[in-house]
Amino acid sequence: MRIPRNLLLGFAVVNALLPCAQSATISAAPAQTFLGIGGSGAWWPNDLFQFPESVRQNLSSLLFSQSGLGLSSYRFNAGAGGVGVSNPTRAPETFYVAPGQYDFTKDAAGVYFLTQASNFGVPGLTMFANSAPAPLTVGGTSCNSQFKDGTGEAYGTFLADVVQHFRSEGILINLISPMNEPENSFGPAPCGQEGMLVLPTQRAEVINGLWDALNARNMTDVVGILADETSRLSLAVLEYPFWLSQVIDKVTALAHHTYDFPSDLGYSAYIADVKLFFSGKQTWMSEVCCTMGEADGSGKGLSQGYDPTIKNALLFSGMVFQSLVLAGEPHYDFWTLVSKEIGCDPSQDVGCAAEPNANGWNDGLIYYDPNFATNGNHELYIKKQFWTYKHFGNFLKPGTQRLPITGSGSNSDSMLAVSNSSTIVVIAMNTGSTDSTLSLTFPEDVCATGGFRTSATEDFASIPAATRSNGSSGRDWNLSLASLSLSSYLFDRKAC
Ligand SMILES: *[C@@H]1O[C@H](CO)[C@@H](O)[C@H](O)[C@H]1NC(C)=O
Ligand SMILES: *[C@@H]1O[C@H](CO)[C@@H](O)[C@H](O)[C@H]1NC(C)=O
Ligand SMILES: *[C@@H]1O[C@H](CO)[C@@H](O)[C@H](O)[C@H]1NC(C)=O
Ligand SMILES: *[C@@H]1O[C@H](CO)[C@@H](O)[C@H](O)[C@H]1NC(C)=O
Ligand SMILES: *[C@@H]1O[C@H](CO)[C@@H](O)[C@H](O)[C@H]1NC(C)=O
Repeated sequence: MRIPRNLLLGFAVVNALLPCAQSATISAAPAQTFLGIGGSGAWWPNDLFQFPESVRQNLSSLLFSQSGLGLSSYRFNAGAGGVGVSNPTRAPETFYVAPGQYDFTKDAAGVYFLTQASNFGVPGLTMFANSAPAPLTVGGTSCNSQFKDGTGEAYGTFLADVVQHFRSEGILINLISPMNEPENSFGPAPCGQEGMLVLPTQRAEVINGLWDALNARNMTDVVGILADETSRLSLAVLEYPFWLSQVIDKVTALAHHTYDFPSDLGYSAYIADVKLFFSGKQTWMSEVCCTMGEADGSGKGLSQGYDPTIKNALLFSGMVFQSLVLAGEPHYDFWTLVSKEIGCDPSQDVGCAAEPNANGWNDGLIYYDPNFATNGNHELYIKKQFWTYKHFGNFLKPGTQRLPITGSGSNSDSMLAVSNSSTIVVIAMNTGSTDSTLSLTFPEDVCATGGFRTSATEDFASIPAATRSNGSSGRDWNLSLASLSLSSYLFDRKAC
């Protein structure tokens, strides 16, 4: 959960209503190669670990199997011990005991779901930390504290030892993010979550310490470093000059959050800045949540409220398109995946999980009863956003490539084409209130084979294949886009 007091006002994006017919062209030359679609394991594992094993299995399958979201990225939260955190769900245990001493029986809940992700074959496993273990920070706490100068090697040693341990068990964590939202200590205590202030001038020491520890273990080829997960693009670019050039070669990708809910202009400015000063370095979207607003993205901005409907699902889909298409980023993570911030009591009012309310938060795709421990309600409640995110999770596999869509009918906030050796999938949404047709010219002979749609009434439902727009031959195809829906259309890369 993000704290609104640090919020800079975002610029609302207003997409024009889609016209009824649009035409556009798919390019043959690929843009970026996708690396991962995912989300984080904080802090729901602490609660869900207490659920019956059958529900834990169902949840794991909903997240990690292709019949569910088919996520290719999972972010395991390395706890800092929760010292100073008042909310027990958000106070994960730490493996740290003393320098070089670890207790790997701790955080059984977090390890359970990390193991599930690994068992399901999720290829991108990140370990991220909101704070160093409490004993290493200035105040000896896991929040409302600060990175202590001179502890870079000790902190890096802890992170590298933990990852080496899991890798030796076959859980192949391949990325470490040592400071999540380092601009925020999440104080004052008692805090709502873990957090450690790392001043921009301290961040190079964190990276150097981690790099040295990985290097000493011959792990730099197999475990990358993500940094610095600053919460807002507009802040990240102001901070980079203080640390990034010192350690740029040790960072695999610049991970950022988008809690400023950037406009297209703002996002493009961030990308241009990175290109200018840190040419060739990839940027990854690694966390966002929590906005109400309209399907077309208008009215978005960090805000309380729970909206399980297609409206909010399309709003968040627009943000995925923005990162992957407008910004050309290869990796996208939503925030917590699973949440109890449902804002109502589903044990008393069974229908409330399907209705918007002002008390919850849009920080999950799957929800559970916050009172499960007392009322025994172990139901999982699936939001429409689960089904829209499934389109991205199911088709944007690591190694697939984005094919640019150009022309008057193209829109970088509402459509993309993705290809592998055998298939092209077009994912497109219609945020308007009337049905429309997208006429697409392909760069090669293809054959439409089917599709899937998520709308107010459909959850990734099978739909008829695209049709040829001009007779029985040619490379022009019509894709129906029903009002308020997200569709995926599949094409074999060969003539029918
Ligand atoms: C270091 O790891 C690489 C693979 O990542 C391996 O090929 C090499 O043999 C290792 N070297 C040592 C000294 O362990
Ligand atoms: C898993 O949970 C979903 C959501 O509550 C439910 O629809 C489905 O039936 C469950 N599946 C199993 C096998 O329990
Ligand atoms: C290509 O993508 C399609 C659609 O996602 C999938 O069914 C197929 O297995 C993929 N093929 C390869 C070789 O990865
Ligand atoms: C394809 O869509 C365009 C635009 O809506 C329309 O003019 C054309 O008739 C459609 N073609 C077919 C075969 O339906
Ligand atoms: C439609 O197909 C016909 C015959 O194959 C061709 O002459 C015509 O140019 C095509 N029209 C468009 C808009 O592609």
